[in-house]
Amino acid sequence: MSFYQNKIAWITGASSGIGEALVYELSKAGAKLIISARREAELERVRQQSGHPENVFILPLDLEAPATFDAAVQMAIAAFGRIDLVFHNGGISQRSLVKDTLPAIHRKIMEIDYFSYIELTRLLLPHFQQQRSGHLVVISSVMGKIGTPLRSAYAAAKHALHGYFDCLRAEVWKDNIGVTVITPGYIRTKVTMNAVTATGEKLNREGKEIGNGYPADRTAAQIAKAVENGKYEKYVGKPFSKEWMAIQLMRFFPAMAMRVFRNAVPD
Ligand SMILES: NC(=O)c1ccc[n+]([C@@H]2O[C@H](COP(=O)([O-])OP(=O)(O)OC[C@H]3O[C@@H](n4cnc5c(N)ncnc54)[C@H](OP(=O)(O)O)[C@@H]3O)[C@@H](O)[C@H]2O)c1
Repeated sequence: MSFYQNKIAWITGASSGIGEALVYELSKAGAKLIISARREAELERVRQQSGHPENVFILPLDLEAPATFDAAVQMAIAAFGRIDLVFHNGGISQRSLVKDTLPAIHRKIMEIDYFSYIELTRLLLPHFQQQRSGHLVVISSVMGKIGTPLRSAYAAAKHALHGYFDCLRAEVWKDNIGVTVITPGYIRTKVTMNAVTATGEKLNREGKEIGNGYPADRTAAQIAKAVENGKYEKYVGKPFSKEWMAIQLMRFFPAMAMRVFRNAVPD
């Protein structure tokens, strides 16, 4: 029997990209799903394409609206009576230099990519602790491990996720709650298109690296496997790619890594 058979998973950012691919991957494996994002029509499209629409519950959610999180968590739990896994995945990227980026834009990125993850987690913890099981899956990024130009707030949010969820893992292991932090490389999605500029506008253009990125469906399969294997942290994407190399370089030769990264021209 599949690890995911009859498991109940909540996936944020499920209307596109990695989250959408996770819906198809987990649905195929027998999971029941709660799917969230802002665009309800896109969620309905994903539900219909999931192969098992009867096992998919749509829960619209804006990760920039923390006042709605308490009710959303209660609705997510009520959808199928419990939650086994949460995939914190919804997010936005950035293309702007530090000197140009308005404070409000830094806050917006932190709100969506960091604060929403930790507040939803805080609200879910009593449920996981009561049932003495649960697994938190956190979609970080290679940018959670390194720093390059044009991604300051995004990298800050992603780095923060590692610190927070490493601490949480150490706190909740005794309650049988697991934490897997995923660091994707370049994955072919709308992430660059949806990235924000210094003043908060949508970038609205494709990136070359993302355009040639690893397919989202294979990424979702890698994520599902990492969770099943109880990994604490896992790179996903093209094996032995330059993004993977960047993590290794930063870990073992940080001075050299930082000289390489300052010449990086992110698209
Ligand atoms: N693609 C990559 O190369 C890559 C690499 C590393 C990490 N990641 C991470 O992977 C995750 C998924 O991104 P993706 O690549 O799949 O990009 P994507 O195709 O742009 O999908 C982003 C998802 O996040 C949701 N979202 C954005 N802002 C939201 C908000 N305020 N409230 C609720 N949902 C929101 C979007 O849904 P709505 O617009 O419908 O709300 C969408 O479902 C992100 O955390 C991203 O940082 C991606």
